[in-house]
Amino acid sequence: MKFPFHTVARGWKTFHRFQQKGVLSEDQRLWSSALKCSRSSSQLCKEKCFYITTPIFYVNAAPHLGHLYSAMIADCLHRWKLLQGFESRFATGTDEHGLKIQQAAEAAGKDPLTFCTEVSQRFETLFSNCSVSFTDYIRTTEQRHRRAVEHFWSVLWNKGLIYKGSYEGWYSTQDESFLMPSQVSDALDPSGKEVKVSLESGHKVEWMKEENYMFRLSSFRSLLLDWLVKNPSAVQPERFHQAVLQWLQEDLPDLSVSRQRSRLQWGIPVPGDPEQTIYVWLDALVNYLTVVGYPEKHERWWHVAHHVIGKDILKFHAIYWPAFLLGAGLPLPQVIHVHSHWTVGGKKMSKSLGNVVDPFEHSQMFTNDGMRYFLLRQGVPDTDCDYTHDKVLKLLNAELADSLGGLLNRCTAPALNPAQVYPAFCSHSFPRDRRGRAVEEDYHMVETVRSLSTVVEKHYESMQVYKALEAISACVRQTNGFIQRHTPWKLDRRDSKDGRWLDTIIHLTLECLRVYGTLLQPVVPEISDRLLTRLGVQSQERSWKDLDFLGRYFGTDCSFEGRPLGSNCGLLFSRLETQSGDKQKTMKSKKPAQ
Ligand code: MSP
Repeated sequence: MKFPFHTVARGWKTFHRFQQKGVLSEDQRLWSSALKCSRSSSQLCKEKCFYITTPIFYVNAAPHLGHLYSAMIADCLHRWKLLQGFESRFATGTDEHGLKIQQAAEAAGKDPLTFCTEVSQRFETLFSNCSVSFTDYIRTTEQRHRRAVEHFWSVLWNKGLIYKGSYEGWYSTQDESFLMPSQVSDALDPSGKEVKVSLESGHKVEWMKEENYMFRLSSFRSLLLDWLVKNPSAVQPERFHQAVLQWLQEDLPDLSVSRQRSRLQWGIPVPGDPEQTIYVWLDALVNYLTVVGYPEKHERWWHVAHHVIGKDILKFHAIYWPAFLLGAGLPLPQVIHVHSHWTVGGKKMSKSLGNVVDPFEHSQMFTNDGMRYFLLRQGVPDTDCDYTHDKVLKLLNAELADSLGGLLNRCTAPALNPAQVYPAFCSHSFPRDRRGRAVEEDYHMVETVRSLSTVVEKHYESMQVYKALEAISACVRQTNGFIQRHTPWKLDRRDSKDGRWLDTIIHLTLECLRVYGTLLQPVVPEISDRLLTRLGVQSQERSWKDLDFLGRYFGTDCSFEGRPLGSNCGLLFSRLETQSGDKQKTMKSKKPAQ
């Protein structure tokens, strides 16, 4: 496999230069008050509401697996909050301005808006197919967004935070990012020509020198540090919080926030200066405000904003965006949740390497919920993860088909549960004083499942979804162990003691499954629905407050006891098998033995 560029580390002389004109017209006290306002935002919002966003996706190329991953994490957090009884808003959409979109449209021989509309629709279709249940879809070419950006710009301008200046330095069109000389290195392009590339992304950079508008980013350094130090959970996980603090130790030059219209036509013109186009990142970041009705009616939702982003766009979200918001006198986001990347064969996905995973194809192959489960179970926010067919196959077969599906099959099979009901729990068979037929490990399992919701809550809250799924999966294994230990198929229903013990085993197993199904809803909504429907759990009985595990043992009632089971919708998850000859792609489903 070939890299697009061969990077050669070589020392570079600094000739990056800003020429500032104008002076600060606002003093820092003003921004400090914005910071205080952001700190008290959680107190301001008394209602249970939650606002979560994904990054808006560039439309220069088709969606890939990494994009879907960002959207799935946000969807999972949104569904989690709904489960907890919050009113939740979930925004996603597409980032449609900028030079690289302009160039991609040109290359496709289409006018930019037609091109953007086509690709934006592909994202929307992908998300709808994969149960990404966004409540708002935003496109930066919409009129409502243009209004919001123009207003935001005017606020910064009126506060003296934007001034006319000139920028000279490196620019990466692929990343739409300005770079310091220390962030650039020498490389050879595929034809052997010497070029400069961004050290971080490997994308080609160009020297740029032009008159444009500058934002006084340098004035916000200490305020940003203050925010991060006083809000240790503002950027999660911790290693990314540390990375931002580290960046802020270095020079923080003012930021160019416009490009000459002659170079960039595809964007929002600077209000009052049609010769300049607003920098695509400023334009894009404001989308989060547009969605909630900025500038007129954003307050209610803006106080509870959470962003999900990939690690490559941390600087834009944890430095530029908070500085813009402080400048505009708006509260800062509550949490910026950062995730790492999916690689293929240990390499970043890229068209030139030919290793891009098509999310449409793969979610068809493994089912939507299968794909969701894999990405959220294996994706670790702190570190990059490698995607292989084999891993997907093994994980889904082991945890969804065999472990969870097998458990449901066992306790709903007519052979074991001929009456097809949620049977009664017998406290003589499973007494609190531990003198019945249950053994020590069974009591341990009951305690573990009882505390599962608290464990899962903690992990969902901090976007460590894989840990929540790890905990659920461990409990499913324990419950399978419980069944295996007591071999209920060997018990004789005609014997009243055996019959009561058999019912107790099934009751307890169904209670465990009810908890797993409820807690899994944010990750695998379709599978959870099938599971809970089979148990006879109504849709209004599937929320966080309905969990109430094993009431009959813990001294409360169980409203499910004695109810008929729900309809059998078939296998919870069909085993996936590779077929010899085409191990990589072709799969068929096979029914497990009943
Ligand atoms: N348009 C900007 C975001 C603007 S938000 C105001 C952008 N778009 S993007 O399409 O390039 O990336 C969108 C998201 O996809 C980012 O969070 C990025 O990290 C994520 N991913 C892109 N490739 C990825 C992987 N290989 N793996 C996981 N996520 C990755 O940046």
